Amino acid sequence: MYILAFLCVLWYYLLGCDFMQTPSLIEAKKRTKNKVNIRTYLKDDKYAHIGLGKKYYIKTYGCQMNVHDSENIKALLEEMSFLETDVFEDADLILLNTCAIRENAHNKVFGFLGRVKHLKSSKPVICGICGCMAQEESVVSEIKDKYKWVDIVFGTHNIDKLPEILSDSLENSMQNISVLSIEGDIVEDMPVKRDSKYKAWVNIMYGCDKFCTYCIVPYTRGKQRSRKLEDIVKEVESLVKDGYLEVTLLGQNVNAYGKDLDDDYTMSDLLESVAKTGIKRVRFVTSHPWDFDDKMIDIIAKYDNIMPYIHLPLQSGSNRILKLMGRRYTKEEYLNLFNKLKNKIPNCSITTDIIVGFPTETDSDFNETLDVVNKCQYDSAFTFIFSPRIGTPAAKMEDDITLEEKEHRLYKLNELVNEYANMNNQKYLGKVVPVLIEGTSDKEGMLMGYTDTMKLVNVRADKKYIGKIVDVRITGVKTWSLDGEI
Ligand code: 5AD
Ligand code: SF4
Repeated sequence: MYILAFLCVLWYYLLGCDFMQTPSLIEAKKRTKNKVNIRTYLKDDKYAHIGLGKKYYIKTYGCQMNVHDSENIKALLEEMSFLETDVFEDADLILLNTCAIRENAHNKVFGFLGRVKHLKSSKPVICGICGCMAQEESVVSEIKDKYKWVDIVFGTHNIDKLPEILSDSLENSMQNISVLSIEGDIVEDMPVKRDSKYKAWVNIMYGCDKFCTYCIVPYTRGKQRSRKLEDIVKEVESLVKDGYLEVTLLGQNVNAYGKDLDDDYTMSDLLESVAKTGIKRVRFVTSHPWDFDDKMIDIIAKYDNIMPYIHLPLQSGSNRILKLMGRRYTKEEYLNLFNKLKNKIPNCSITTDIIVGFPTETDSDFNETLDVVNKCQYDSAFTFIFSPRIGTPAAKMEDDITLEEKEHRLYKLNELVNEYANMNNQKYLGKVVPVLIEGTSDKEGMLMGYTDTMKLVNVRADKKYIGKIVDVRITGVKTWSLDGEI
């Protein structure tokens, strides 16, 4: 009897191991010297009918990188014959593509899982979790312990393996956890189902090696790996052929593009090559001030199709806090770069990210941040309360500021940010600006699109203008959007 029980446990353990590849933050921190392998995605026909007659629903949290990953995931699922539904209750497969950047992103995902569990009690549904949260050790342990009914978990490094992971899970009705700690290859020619017919996300690099002390991204997304310039240009050329008007080049720190390659090209070379494809609009996110060089500023200024819009995260205006954050620049260096950008790129709009309540931040540190906001008068800013992320250095620092104080600082900062956002928008009143009309607006009878400077405009116009860049006269101004007519 005991032997039988032992064999059963052993069997369960061995079988479990077959389907368990869990993440480790210590492993994830390692930057291997191994050359990054580039391979081409090949569709495997043996998975082509797995999803026949089934529907999938995907919910995406977080940044543009995740949005673009979801576009790849959708295409992989459709290669397996799944059909997309936006009605949650109709789905046979529900995937949550998650974000780990702050605690509230976690809470939202676990909240949503409650809805999935409820649906699962009324019909068979496969539930999967992927994205950055899946790369976190603590999250995966929680899923193994408390959410045993979640069927599949896969990370950011093995999205292309989704067909195998899903097929394993269907054959063996066990929880399948398949998360690599160390990043895998760069996979070219992944299938993609783009959300828009006019603007496209294009990855230029993966991962980040900056290790800002508060940030989980270098652990969840792995070491910096740049795609080859020729692969990126090829992708943009084929988008141009397909009628796309705009590309946004994506990376956690785009200014460091190419620094991990043996080839001698940098972000400015890449920007120039992409601009020369003739695509109407080129954007890029996100820029790290430390890697932003003069050559890149000159290239942005030189090409009309590189948009005069830069997202330039500040994080803090205090030199002491910037040092604790590991940001590698001072307030003065940031302001110097900001002024250069404003002087050299006519009409350039600049937005930023700011964290308040970083451990030990004093009133005087916070006032330094307000001082930079007053000097830069940003077009807009994303503002956050510091959120300790397990495994990052800042999470171990003494967090000595009360929540009340953090909320007060956030409120004060937001008031100032809104004031400048509104002030910058007022400058547009009566002007004629180019807008790429993307589709219908939430506002009844109106269309929506963005200016070259990334201002959202609601336009009263005929639907025939969707998918075109048109001149729009700005007739009304709000803090976060403009109104206009053709
Ligand atoms: N707490 C709060 N904000 C954070 N960000 C990144 N990590 C954290 C954290 N632990 C913010 C930064 C970054 C943006 C994408 O999210 O401002 O630029
Ligand atoms: Fe995170 Fe950006 Fe710093 Fe990289 S550069 S560690 S992604 S905040």
